Amino acid sequence: MKIKKAILTGGGRATRLQPITSTINKHLLPLANKPMIFHAIEKAVEAGVEQIFINTNPGETELQKCVGDGGHWGINVQFFEQTGGPQGIAHVVNEAKDFIGDDPFMFYLSDNILFGSLKDMFQEFEEKEYDCMLALSKVPDPQRFGVPIFDNDILIDVVEKPENPTNDFAVTGVYLYGSKLFFDTFQKIEKSDRGEYEISSIHSHFLKSGRRVGYSEITGWWKDTGKTEDLILANQLLLDEKDEKEFSNYGSISPDAEIIGKVHIGLGSSLANDVKILGPVIIAENCFLENCTIGPHVTLGQGTEIKNARIKNSIILEHTTIECNIDISDSILGKHVKLINREGDRERGRRMILGDKTVVEL
Ligand code: G1P
Repeated sequence: MKIKKAILTGGGRATRLQPITSTINKHLLPLANKPMIFHAIEKAVEAGVEQIFINTNPGETELQKCVGDGGHWGINVQFFEQTGGPQGIAHVVNEAKDFIGDDPFMFYLSDNILFGSLKDMFQEFEEKEYDCMLALSKVPDPQRFGVPIFDNDILIDVVEKPENPTNDFAVTGVYLYGSKLFFDTFQKIEKSDRGEYEISSIHSHFLKSGRRVGYSEITGWWKDTGKTEDLILANQLLLDEKDEKEFSNYGSISPDAEIIGKVHIGLGSSLANDVKILGPVIIAENCFLENCTIGPHVTLGQGTEIKNARIKNSIILEHTTIECNIDISDSILGKHVKLINREGDRERGRRMILGDKTVVEL
């Protein structure tokens, strides 16, 4: 039976990404200037999914506004809240029980960014009629993840965040399940020591009760974007991967501007004197740039203004102003941030108004 339904995560607090996530849902952070969750939706749609259920934090409205009803991708999208607050990702899936009914489905952690298509995995799952299928990826730090245990080549168990992993595979956040077996199994598992219903407990239960759990290795790039470094790297690699055809120029550009490589310039943006852009770079709509060097691997959100600065390998969110002689790299700047020269008496020192958990490396 073909998989046409998917559950995607859209909630959580993402405390490790603060302060950026203090005011924006992690799943809406732009990667290659597209909200993170759009990358997950597009992977699902490309593999054949037609209906998506996204869990949201209580009171969330931005995510719904941004994603809409799915019409943009020719599919149907609905949202649901986790009752009783966060209790682990297996609980998120269980909360979508009524949407899924008896149909096979994909569960996808939307903060997982991966390259390549999921079509082959879907096909193998359908052909071999597995009860469940996991996508694995080799990582340098398996202790941060669910880790598969093998007896020779046979998958016999999955352990969540083991202290001493026996191999260097992680179970990624892409899971395929057949019909309602998941929901029956959920009734049988208990919360872990960190107080969560672990998805690995479900898989361990499947394996110990003789269910058919298949696996495939994601050979392309895969990243769980839990830390700010991961976001910057994901942005960089997504820009590299993006087809040249997706970069266009809708802006107005001074004749002395130097533009090298893949560069997208959005409508209403203008590049005034002495601007150098080294692609891959995406500049959204209504930005203003003067006397600056941008790139490689930079995304500028709409309405940003950059003067006299040099920026590389960074994510700059919308309506941020940088107007000073500064080199910026490997950074994330939120919305409406101002980095400007101090007017008047500079001798008195630098003036900063930084929110909680801000990091500044001078
Ligand atoms: C979760 C799962 C873990 C999986 C990881 C993939 O971990 O529990 O098994 O390997 O996602 O991103 P968490 O992000 O909740 O620590």
